[in-house]
Amino acid sequence: MSITLIHPAPDSGWADQRLDGVLKHALAGREVRVVRRAEELDGLQSQRLILALALGDAGVNLEYMRMLARLRKAPGLLQSCTGGLIVDGAGELYTKSAAAEGALAMNQAGCALVGRPLVEGTGSLANFAVQAKNLGTGLMGAYRHAAAELADHVEGFAFPRKEKPEVLVLHASSHHTSNTMDLWSQVREKLEGRCAIREIGLRNGTLSDCSGCPYTMCLHFGEQGGCFYGGVMQDEVYPAVRTADALVLLCPNYNDALSANLSAFINRLTALFRQTRFYHKAVFAIVVSGYSGGDVVARQVIAAMNMNKSFYLPQHFALIETANNPGQALALPGIQNRLERFGRNILDTLCL
Ligand SMILES: Cc1cc2nc3c(=O)[nH]c(=O)nc-3n(C[C@H](O)[C@H](O)[C@H](O)COP(=O)(O)O)c2cc1C
Repeated sequence: MSITLIHPAPDSGWADQRLDGVLKHALAGREVRVVRRAEELDGLQSQRLILALALGDAGVNLEYMRMLARLRKAPGLLQSCTGGLIVDGAGELYTKSAAAEGALAMNQAGCALVGRPLVEGTGSLANFAVQAKNLGTGLMGAYRHAAAELADHVEGFAFPRKEKPEVLVLHASSHHTSNTMDLWSQVREKLEGRCAIREIGLRNGTLSDCSGCPYTMCLHFGEQGGCFYGGVMQDEVYPAVRTADALVLLCPNYNDALSANLSAFINRLTALFRQTRFYHKAVFAIVVSGYSGGDVVARQVIAAMNMNKSFYLPQHFALIETANNPGQALALPGIQNRLERFGRNILDTLCL
């Protein structure tokens, strides 16, 4: 196995110095093909990829912008790839937003992302404080360690397929009028018989948001299989997530973000995450906006569920549509083809 390193040339040479050192360490002894210009983004299907991005002090890399344009215009450019990202900045801002934007573009170009696919070096490297302490090393040592671990993970990961995978669907919508639910009901028909499907509604009032308990308290409740608040999350959702092979999140765009109920679900997942990682569970999403902003919501799912909570992000993980009035989503031009492709992608990802 080898790694393809997509490493856009930085605007100024100094911006790449720290990242170069980290990459030399992380990729030592591996067979590596390096892509530095947007024009070289070709023939990359079925590769193991790392996007290594030096952002400098303004959070910008112009060569990367040219690459982003190519990725967005060619949905099959990275077909059947598996990848991760290393994003290095000279300041404390922009690394996470650039990573989420890059991750969505890679995914829509056909690249799956391993769980926890991002190694992020902020200017001060303060984001490595806990890992450095746990490893008994300095901040730079923790950065290098994380990058080497990511390279191993990207090179070796294979998502396990099953005879009859369990799919857990989480929503917080009204069945009668929701465009998001309309799209899901069509996708469901395509999965029926091949997957065991369970739907849980997180309607208003059924779910309290995370109360932000101290780490040890969260750990304690998590070890008992629950969380400070208990309720539907503890009784129904945690057990269902534990056995699921994939989650499908139904995400209407509410103020350019996930709805409060879905956000609360993800926040409350922290207690379970303290017990276990979700590398072998996939996350899919159906995102519907009335007017615009589907990419913002899809990025939020990637940041929260894949980058943070460690779920595997299959290629083309999200169906992203724009429809406002009831019934409009199912009348969109070409929607039946896109639903067919989305359903087939779920089956191809999960089923033997
Ligand atoms: C509270 C609320 C906030 C919304 N905010 C946005 C928004 O910021 N941008 C947008 O394009 N649509 C927004 N919408 C419209 C929905 O995204 C739209 O109705 C879409 O069809 C998905 O919702 P549905 O599944 O309930 O039909 C909002 C709807 C509600 C109820």
